[in-house]
Amino acid sequence: MRTQVVIIGAGPSGLLLGQLLANSGIDAVILERAERDYVLGRVRAGVLEQGTVDLLDEAGVGARMHAEGLPHDGISLAYGHELHRIGLHDLTGRRVMIYGQTEVTHDLMSEREASGATTIYSAGQVQPHGFDGASPYVTYEKDGTTHRIDCDFIAGCDGFHGISRKSVPPDALRTYERAYPFGWLGILAEVPPADHELIYANHPRGFALCSMRSECRSRYYVQCPLDDKVEAWSDERFWDELRRRLPAEAADRVIAGPSFEKTIAPLRSFVAEPMQFGRLSLVGDAAHIVPPTGAKGLNLAASDVRYLFEGLREHYRDRSPAALQAYSSRALARVWKAVRFSWWMTTMLHRFPDTGAFGQRIQEAELDYVVHSRAASTALAENYVGLPY
Ligand code: APR
Ligand code: PHB
Repeated sequence: MRTQVVIIGAGPSGLLLGQLLANSGIDAVILERAERDYVLGRVRAGVLEQGTVDLLDEAGVGARMHAEGLPHDGISLAYGHELHRIGLHDLTGRRVMIYGQTEVTHDLMSEREASGATTIYSAGQVQPHGFDGASPYVTYEKDGTTHRIDCDFIAGCDGFHGISRKSVPPDALRTYERAYPFGWLGILAEVPPADHELIYANHPRGFALCSMRSECRSRYYVQCPLDDKVEAWSDERFWDELRRRLPAEAADRVIAGPSFEKTIAPLRSFVAEPMQFGRLSLVGDAAHIVPPTGAKGLNLAASDVRYLFEGLREHYRDRSPAALQAYSSRALARVWKAVRFSWWMTTMLHRFPDTGAFGQRIQEAELDYVVHSRAASTALAENYVGLPY
């Protein structure tokens, strides 16, 4: 088989890139190691920046998002027994859209299947080759046979644990990492959310987040020790701990109910540089990971896709290599600003082993400054709604 672009991974990065390429008449084959339903079953955050919303519209998959998504004009920060709203739209003229990543993936998959473009699920042993030259190709195994796809470019959209970054010669890669000494215990429950907007709470007992998937499905998180176990958290214990970390006016609005999803996830900041090696480009989680405190994971994948799509379109349409050659530097300039914001939100809102009484007061002073300074609130708001592409 031959195609113009082989995309490794059918997550948001791979599917969005594939759709934009298809819409521009550029042929791409997606190789996904998991089964289709497994990809769809993954529960992920759903705060979309305006730039991501615009890109999904450009890809032609925005209809259900606009019909079912929840536009949010603000968030609240909770500390010292009080809630403080940050008016994202008042401060920046922009808002975010609450729309689950699972729904984004579903919409992209449906559009791709309708277009007849090729996605190969359950592709085993995917391996990029020859990307340091002009004739790259990708091999994979399926139904007991090894297959080869010759192409012009390879997009490594295969996430943090994928094969693409691991296929780059180690001495060609620089990585930067910060692991956080705690995790997030998250639940989903079919109960109305405690507030019409998200609440990020700093508390001496630890961080808590009140989010949602819809007006009848809530998503909550509490910071927990890295070695904590889901089995140690009954629903009753979770609801009690969540309420203890919220100001009374928010705690009183929490409606408890049986959880149907309960997981613990670690938090990490990670960046691999550069994001391009000859004809192989790394996209999204394959190149960088952010702690979810800034809700940037999916949105960074979207801006990477935007930059790589522009480079590939210019290569095929205008026979110009400039945008493609600039992909890594353009993407990393935005990635690092989002990595910084996510790190800043995480350090300001979480209880660290060495926070102590002094550290708690410093965090509360920083939060107090942010909510009472228009300049500081605007700085938080413009990062949260998404810096320009
Ligand atoms: N071969 C083929 N596919 C692979 C391989 C491989 N060796 N390794 C991983 N994959 C697939 C995974 O099964 C997954 O479907 O690549 C896809 C990667 O998707 P994501 O991990 O979701 O990464 P990305 O598309 O960049 O989306 C980033 O998703 O994980 C969240 O928080 C993250 O919101 C962010 C967004
Ligand atoms: C979520 O709804 O899962 C969510 C929202 C905002 C975040 C992280 C997660 O910052």
